[in-house]
Amino acid sequence: MAAPNGAVPAIEFRDVQKRFGDTVVLDGLNFTVAKGDRVTLIGPSGSGKTTILRLVMTLEDLTDGYIFIDGEPLTHAEVDGERVELKPKHKTEIRKRIGMVFQQFNLFPNMTVIENIIEAPVHVLGMSKEDAIEKARGLLDQVGLADKEDAHPLELSGGQQQRVAIARALAMDPEILLLDEVTSALDPEIVGEVLGILKDVAESTDITMLIVTHEMQFARDVSNRILMFDGGRIVEEGTPEEFFTNPKEQRTRDFLQAVVADPITGALPWQPAPGASGTPAAPATPTTPSTTSTTTQDGDPL
Ligand SMILES: Nc1ncnc2c1ncn2[C@@H]1O[C@H](COP(=O)(O)OP(=O)(O)O)[C@@H](O)[C@H]1O
Ligand SMILES: [Mg+2]
Repeated sequence: MAAPNGAVPAIEFRDVQKRFGDTVVLDGLNFTVAKGDRVTLIGPSGSGKTTILRLVMTLEDLTDGYIFIDGEPLTHAEVDGERVELKPKHKTEIRKRIGMVFQQFNLFPNMTVIENIIEAPVHVLGMSKEDAIEKARGLLDQVGLADKEDAHPLELSGGQQQRVAIARALAMDPEILLLDEVTSALDPEIVGEVLGILKDVAESTDITMLIVTHEMQFARDVSNRILMFDGGRIVEEGTPEEFFTNPKEQRTRDFLQAVVADPITGALPWQPAPGASGTPAAPATPTTPSTTSTTTQDGDPL
């Protein structure tokens, strides 16, 4: 499916099926991500979000269907009406353009920070070691870890490890960056610094981003499109504005209720809590407040 303006999408899922044994996780999934888009996938645990990212990263095999990166088939192509698997060399070539940051950092524990970062640029891109080190130092500076290049991952805090993982992904100059719950394993007080770095990356580059997160404020700040998944299917899609002011589907409302409702008042962004100051909630007709009316002086309730 081409984008409406005819541009080739950065990522296209076409009739994608993924099974683990008898478990069907994705069944005929179709969606596209335009170049430069920042798309956040939300949805309950087990809805297939990680699987989608891992398929793009070729860490999982596709059971059926096709994924296209920049219009090029990633792992399988249709040739004379037949679905054929492409050579590993082809996959490797396309995967060079994609970076991923994982919930559990996944750094190489036996390598120093700088070795982690230069590994792929040197061995996959064929960059000279000197150039790779110079670039890695720039990235370490960007993520605030210039003094840690000789440390080993396990000597670092979780937040520091994740910043190294971000630098490692950026060292490949990816066209597409996949972020899978990158702050879920971090202590709450350091979540903000990691998200701040990613926000800067989003603002200063045109990297296409596919993001899985439960940090709804981050999703709102960074993404221009949100896809709500349940059971491997897209339940609802829209802009962050639409999602957080007037979600259409009950399934989406239930999910957002669980992740964004005010823990004390139970207030939802699109529906002030009964008894809250201002006009009382009118359950029969959901309100569609403007952005300003969802934002309090103390900060956004999301
Ligand atoms: N390696 C695997 N083997 C078997 N089942 C898996 C595997 N990976 C994921 N699944 C199953 O696929 C479904 C989707 O998982 P996942 O993509 O991790 O969801 P999410 O990231 O939305 O929580 C779940 O039912 C999960 O148990
Ligand atoms: Mg997951």
